[in-house]
Amino acid sequence: MSQKLVAVKGMNDLMSPQIELWQFVERTAREMFGTWGYSEIRTPIVEDTALFVRSVGEVTDIVSKEMYTFEDKGGRSLTMRPENTAPAVRAYIEHGLGQQPLTRWYYLGPMFRYERMKTGRYRQFYQLGAEAYGPADASQDVENIALAWSFLKAIGIQHVTLHLNSLGDAADRPRYLEALKAYFAPHVATFSEAARDTFERNTMRLLDTKEEALRPLVAGAPVIGDFLGDAARAHFDEVQALLTKLEIPFVLDRSLVRGLDYYTRTTFEFIYEPPSGESTLGTAGTVCGGGRYDNLVHELGGPEKPAVGFAMGLDRLVLLLEALGTQAPLRPLLFVATMEGELKAHAFKLVTDLRLKGLAVDFDPRGGKIKRQAERASAVKARHFVVYGQSEHEAKVLKIKNMDLPDADPNKEVSVPLDDLAPWLLNASKAVSVSSSP
Ligand code: HAM
Repeated sequence: MSQKLVAVKGMNDLMSPQIELWQFVERTAREMFGTWGYSEIRTPIVEDTALFVRSVGEVTDIVSKEMYTFEDKGGRSLTMRPENTAPAVRAYIEHGLGQQPLTRWYYLGPMFRYERMKTGRYRQFYQLGAEAYGPADASQDVENIALAWSFLKAIGIQHVTLHLNSLGDAADRPRYLEALKAYFAPHVATFSEAARDTFERNTMRLLDTKEEALRPLVAGAPVIGDFLGDAARAHFDEVQALLTKLEIPFVLDRSLVRGLDYYTRTTFEFIYEPPSGESTLGTAGTVCGGGRYDNLVHELGGPEKPAVGFAMGLDRLVLLLEALGTQAPLRPLLFVATMEGELKAHAFKLVTDLRLKGLAVDFDPRGGKIKRQAERASAVKARHFVVYGQSEHEAKVLKIKNMDLPDADPNKEVSVPLDDLAPWLLNASKAVSVSSSP
């Protein structure tokens, strides 16, 4: 028997009814990020492996364990992008954009990491990211954070907390690393081989280890916040003052180091923390991560250009929206049930005319019993339902049923003349988008 063909583990097919939520999130992102002055960048899915090794860092989980790396037919080592900050920086340098004082980009697309799977953690997942190159000023950090915060609000995500930290400047690191090494050194003999290797090659990465046994030790380690130089300290103070000014709540999280090597100064994450304390996402509750990376453009061969950015996990946002019962506002506004013969053709023409006017109207080409068509209308969550029968056709008046109201409600059914139908629906759609906006 031939083997059953299924999707690759950790990679999902996305379809209705979730896809409408995806589209809602993506549509809102494109509109909002554009309004905030970020233009879209689309980079290839596949890049030179060296790009990620040199940016994300050789001794990170992403590079050492999680990359989909392969050799192409020309013998080049290529990697399916595990993240998009490095590809964006590569593009920024390659196209000589360092000449510009300010470049702001956003991106939306699939990323690939060979991770241990669970709810909200996949091997192909989608990120929505925003990067700003140029300004070193704290207001750029805060603008970037404010964009993430406003976006989460705009799509109706609740109970996320902004965690904030500063990793200081490169010049602040040696003193900190020395303290960190001194702290871990007496315990190295008890470490796993992998942890020992991390200790030797990139001690800071022990701080975001996934090894449970190391957690208590890591919890007591010196924190970078105690080693910030004056410039990084002043910058961090200003970031906090500006967030307060913008009334964006945050918590200081001195242990937030992020799992990628390129960060300097501000780092942040938005974490889902419901009041009940029990998150359905568990450790996959981080819906957004980002920070400053002032040296990366230069390290990858470009000019000195400070930069800051974030990326959100769209899979996680959609899971949260689903759990909140959010309905994508793309439900059909009207479902038209049709009769047989010429009446069906009239109804079909009506549906098409309304669709041409940009109204979300649906029908079932199979026709059949009205009861079955009504079931179909419920299945696609239509807001209104109408039967286009002989009497409706002759009187040119439709009796429209509001599917969202209980049967006893006197407003459940209204008569609308055919000629007024399009403006009536337009009005109804406006009422819908106000009442259903999360
Ligand atoms: P990251 O923290 O590795 O940062 O990923 C950002 C977000 O992507 C995470 O907070 C999470 O929501 C989502 N994510 C990561 N891995 C998975 C996965 N396996 N399944 C589902 N969602 C996932 C970065 O990637 C940086 N490039 C962010 C950044 C942009 N920093 C500066 N600019």
